[in-house]
Amino acid sequence: MPHASQPAARLGRRVEPFDLNAYVARACREVDRALDRFLPSEKTKPATLHKAMRYSLFAGGKRMRPALVLAAADACGGSWKDALPMACAVECIHTYSLIHDDLPAMDDDDFRRGKPTNHKVFGEGVAVLAGDALLTQAFEILARSGGSSRHGHRDLVLELARASGSLQLIAGQVADLEGEGKKLPLSELRYIHERKTSALLCASVKLGGMSANATSAQLKALKDFGYNVGLAFQIIDDILDVTQTSEKLGKTAGKDTAAQKLTYPSLLGLEKSRREAARLTRRAFAALRSFRGKAVALEALADYLLRRDR
Ligand code: IPE
Ligand code: IPE
Ligand code: MG
Ligand code: MG
Ligand code: MG
Repeated sequence: MPHASQPAARLGRRVEPFDLNAYVARACREVDRALDRFLPSEKTKPATLHKAMRYSLFAGGKRMRPALVLAAADACGGSWKDALPMACAVECIHTYSLIHDDLPAMDDDDFRRGKPTNHKVFGEGVAVLAGDALLTQAFEILARSGGSSRHGHRDLVLELARASGSLQLIAGQVADLEGEGKKLPLSELRYIHERKTSALLCASVKLGGMSANATSAQLKALKDFGYNVGLAFQIIDDILDVTQTSEKLGKTAGKDTAAQKLTYPSLLGLEKSRREAARLTRRAFAALRSFRGKAVALEALADYLLRRDR
């Protein structure tokens, strides 16, 4: 759980204290409630499938992407009510991507969010299908959302489809698999991180902004912020795989080294990787300047995501 922080103050500016802990806790509650409403109950036929979808969705993820959606909506003067469908949609995409990422044919992981992975509990067939269903569910949720006067359903669907499609998230996952065991340049690692992780974080803040009727200048700022925070997020994920315990992470640590994944620590070492994540986070902060102090939640989240230990 994040701690209360004053990220801008760390950068030398005076700001009101912001309780990120309370903010994220409230975001989690609201997102969980909305997800529960959007998803078919576990008794709905096919019950195994709906159980499997809910098993991973409610397994205890950090809900950072939904929190970023809501924080972006706040920065643009919007409401959580309008942003919640976008927050739920990105969490459905994220959870689907994790279920598939853990499959034996991909990263072959046994633990996720502190529990046995979806395929360990429900079998590979149902795990593949639960991922498929969550991916589809995301677009149904977007279609049911209200949109805003500047950004209708077409824009929302386009944003999420692009970020999660064959040129972005899935492209990154393909390159990640194909990069195993190879010594590739930093540019290729950057290509992977931009796509497998940064693209969805970027879409998260943009969708939050769109729900709040953001102007194109605001969306541009959110895009810059999301891109940089997203890259930093995956670098920290790579670092935690080396430095943290499985218990803390809720997933098996040390897997990247074992699978000879292309990661920042493997290419640059831990110290340079940490410096790069900090540099990207500074760039993310800089992108928020035009919000003139209204993006406190986004600032606090970016700061936490750099310092997180899980
Ligand atoms: C893990 O994401 C996968 C990456 C893209 C690095 P998170 O660290 O956000 O995982 P959860 O949602 O908290 O389980
Ligand atoms: C996962 O990256 C990215 C996606 C699922 C799109 P990782 O493979 O590094 O994530 P973890 O470490 O298993 O959570
Ligand atoms: Mg992976
Ligand atoms: Mg993985
Ligand atoms: Mg990882």
